[in-house]
Amino acid sequence: MSFVAIPSTPRSLTESNISTLESLYEAVDGANFTPGWIPRNKPVLWPEPRPQFLPAHWSYTDAKAGLDAGGRLIDVALAERRNLIMRNPAPIAGFETSRTLVAAYQMILPGEHAPSHRHSSHALRVIIDGKGSYSIVDGEKTPMETGDVVLTPGWCWHGHGHDGDRPAYWFDGLDVPLTHLLEPMFFEEHPQKYQQIERVAQTSPYRFRREDIARRLDAAAPDPERFHGARVTLEAPMMPSMGLEMERLVSGTRTRRYRTTANSIFHVVEGSGESTVGSQRFAWSRGDTFVAPGWHAVGHQATSDAQLFVLSDERLLRFSHYYRFEAVE
Ligand SMILES: [Fe+2]
Repeated sequence: MSFVAIPSTPRSLTESNISTLESLYEAVDGANFTPGWIPRNKPVLWPEPRPQFLPAHWSYTDAKAGLDAGGRLIDVALAERRNLIMRNPAPIAGFETSRTLVAAYQMILPGEHAPSHRHSSHALRVIIDGKGSYSIVDGEKTPMETGDVVLTPGWCWHGHGHDGDRPAYWFDGLDVPLTHLLEPMFFEEHPQKYQQIERVAQTSPYRFRREDIARRLDAAAPDPERFHGARVTLEAPMMPSMGLEMERLVSGTRTRRYRTTANSIFHVVEGSGESTVGSQRFAWSRGDTFVAPGWHAVGHQATSDAQLFVLSDERLLRFSHYYRFEAVE
């Protein structure tokens, strides 16, 4: 453990030495206090959410072109992961897609292996195009086929491999920005670099198969209020900071607009359509991703039968009693 020098040692306050407001401000400042009654450029409280992240859209066609070029230029054994992170265009963003979540597109070539590692942050993947690709989660080989959702909860070892004969692409979603905010980050590379496969998962709580999701969606009732299409929750109790849902929008559906305090990332698993997020309008098709920062009105219109994967921090907001929902007419 190392200790960091404190920039300035706070000075003790002596009440009898403070005779004017000016000397009070100087004295309390020297003891690392800020008077709560002084007006600030940025207030501490405000009447309603002021999201600093922006609605944004990323094209899978663009991502694929970038990753395919990366396939020629980047060795995954050295780079660890060949991915393109969806950075929010807001000036405040460094790498984040939203305040608590980050998304990326990743690609692996046939025969490649991405080294195993583990981190505090929770992660999941939605497979866009994959046949023969897999993750190794805590020694268990978990297939990653097109349309599947695969979880790697925080601190599980995970690496990737590919037995197929065409490149595999997927969407990654992680809560790394939340880990940064709260500061409990731990990260470790696997001591053997590539974790050995100890067993092959037939069924796993870490894998939602495309067919099973489709069956559940077939049985799901449509939202009587019409804010959503039929949708199912993908249960991930070991990843409580992230909510995972799959939503089906039948061609021609136009949902009612709503807004919530949660940040949501929408990934297009199937179909095409158009969504409004705040004052922006995004036309999307299979593989695309768009983000709705909290308190932006969201509405969808499907121009063909569509399926959206929705990753959000709603559970976190609900846990904190910060969650609010309202219709935007
Ligand atoms: Fe990872």
